[in-house]
Amino acid sequence: MKDERSSTQEELSDLLVEERHFEPPEEFKALAYLRTGEIREKSWEDPEDFWGNAAKGLHWFKPWDRVLEWEPPNAKWFVGGKINACYNCCDRHIKAGQRNKAALIWEGEPGDSRVMTYWDLYREVNQFANALKSLGVKKGDRVAIYLPMIPEAVVSMLACARIGAIHSVVFGGFSAESLRDRINDAGAKVLITADGGYRRGQIIPLKHDADYAVKETPSIEHVVIVRRGDFPLRVKAGRDHWYHRLIQEAASYCEPEQCDSEDILYILYTSGTTGKPKGIVHTTGGYLVGTYTTTKHIFDLHHDDVFWCTADVGWVTGHSYLVYGPLAAGATCVMYEGAPDWPDRDRFWAIIEKYGVSIFYTAPTAIRAFMKWGDKWPDQHDLSTLRLLGSVGEPINPEAWMWYHEHIGRASCPIVDTWWQTETGMIMISTLPGVDRMKPGSAGPPVSGVRVALYNSQGQEVKTGGGLLAITYPWPAMLRGIWGDPERYQEQYWSKWENIYFAADGAKRSEDGYFTLLGRVDDVLNIAGHRIGTMEVESALVDHPAVAESAAVGIKHEIKGQAIVAFVTLKEGHKFSTEVEADLKEHVVQKIGPIARPERIVFSADLPKTRSGKIMRRLLRDIGEGKILGDTTTLADATIVERLKQQYEEQEDA
Ligand code: WTA
Repeated sequence: MKDERSSTQEELSDLLVEERHFEPPEEFKALAYLRTGEIREKSWEDPEDFWGNAAKGLHWFKPWDRVLEWEPPNAKWFVGGKINACYNCCDRHIKAGQRNKAALIWEGEPGDSRVMTYWDLYREVNQFANALKSLGVKKGDRVAIYLPMIPEAVVSMLACARIGAIHSVVFGGFSAESLRDRINDAGAKVLITADGGYRRGQIIPLKHDADYAVKETPSIEHVVIVRRGDFPLRVKAGRDHWYHRLIQEAASYCEPEQCDSEDILYILYTSGTTGKPKGIVHTTGGYLVGTYTTTKHIFDLHHDDVFWCTADVGWVTGHSYLVYGPLAAGATCVMYEGAPDWPDRDRFWAIIEKYGVSIFYTAPTAIRAFMKWGDKWPDQHDLSTLRLLGSVGEPINPEAWMWYHEHIGRASCPIVDTWWQTETGMIMISTLPGVDRMKPGSAGPPVSGVRVALYNSQGQEVKTGGGLLAITYPWPAMLRGIWGDPERYQEQYWSKWENIYFAADGAKRSEDGYFTLLGRVDDVLNIAGHRIGTMEVESALVDHPAVAESAAVGIKHEIKGQAIVAFVTLKEGHKFSTEVEADLKEHVVQKIGPIARPERIVFSADLPKTRSGKIMRRLLRDIGEGKILGDTTTLADATIVERLKQQYEEQEDA
């Protein structure tokens, strides 16, 4: 425990101390591309020089005239350059003699599989690009993609990129209404969907939902259906087309569009944990340079690596590190359709063993589920091909980090804890795996070419301690706006400080320049005037051997302003009792201090999460304050909230 250093002037308190640290393993370092931080140091001085050099690794039809044009809040990168994202992900590798290298190793949930070489991918993308053209899709048109995790999702994205059409991928787990709203916001002309997809042995009837959505989307002219299974559906003549028929009929080569560097590559809707979804706009040249460069640097990607990013293509992580980054870098990517616990809780480890995965990138929510299920599942498998692990999406609690390190990495793989957002397009904060010391729970310094700092609301920089995360200089993969809403773009990201990007995350910076993320600013706890990040309290709880996952929220308290209520999920084999509750409260006091003692601990089998696995603390606050629940449409499983409400009341009575 440490003295309370926080003052009310400070934006956020810095309470939890983590002393453990690990150096990159020598064997890893010996083969790593980057073994010193020299390039990174230089890049922070002159980001434009760094990015200008990085961009030379890609193919440009015409080189750029200027690296950056910055008229806050609008940036243009590689101005005047002509480029095609699909060409860089396919053609370039064919020309470089990688025709027969596996681009995608796909596994379906029922156990079927398909390997697509770069040549296979190239051929199918060309055919489908021609098919889209035959349906009237032109440069700048929007195409909505509502598919399961099947290779055709990647083909569809690349086919759009090839002809300069803008894709808008909608996660296959979203409802018909969500799909409808996103299609309408973007004004999409074509929708690509499938008869269905597998999830935990069930069939998700995508086409059925798509039919519902399309009833109220006047802009849709055609629907393309990929046949995943042999699932029943209705085909509307004239509007609906089978994917396999279209590609059979299409010519085998489609000239790639010479896109302007600033032409829009895609729109991706993000709702975060609150608010109406916003269509985040990404453009071509800068985005590709950013994702390609970070893939190489942060994942230390080598020619023979087998890279598995478990994210769905419906999220930005799927866009940047399943599709554009690794394919631009010529990697072999694993893609898996289904759930991690189907048919058993070792499915991920079985896949790693089967394909010899060497780089594995997943989310803390998954890691905490694995921890909860117990060590026996990974222990049954040979994971010795792994050489690097990654984490993204939420702060990773130090205990979850340690578990990942020991049980999946067998204490011999570096872990990169990568902080970034849909809006940033690319990884912004992470250690370099062959260079930097790792500190569990701390993401590390900013990546090359990126400037990050902490500010308080008055606009003063916070050098060490807690503050609000800010990006102080433009970066190539940055969002270029919110589709159709320039005011919201300015208001949301650029109005807090002048010409500085507001990320809406709290963080602390230590003297060595490492950033430790503390949680969303909206979720910050305010206890007797001390602002405490949710991450610190949650990590103190997860540090207890009985706890798998936790969510801390502040609910109104007459004296303290707010009191902490912690919702806790126990590991298998542990049971709720008043002793455990007392023990957990004491554990938090030990780790952080009396200020953070939870007023109540609520035990629950599950926590409410968004479909991308982020804990929705807003709903937990509502439960704690006995409020009518707000919008629950972004929840992955809406029944959890009702169950939690009941538990909350029952445990209060007990
Ligand atoms: C959170 C996902 C801590 C953060 C790529 C951010 C993280 C939001 C990390 C963006 C990390 C992501 N450590 N927090 N390594 N990575 N976050 O748009 O709150 O789905 O603002 O992008 O996730 O989520 P998004």
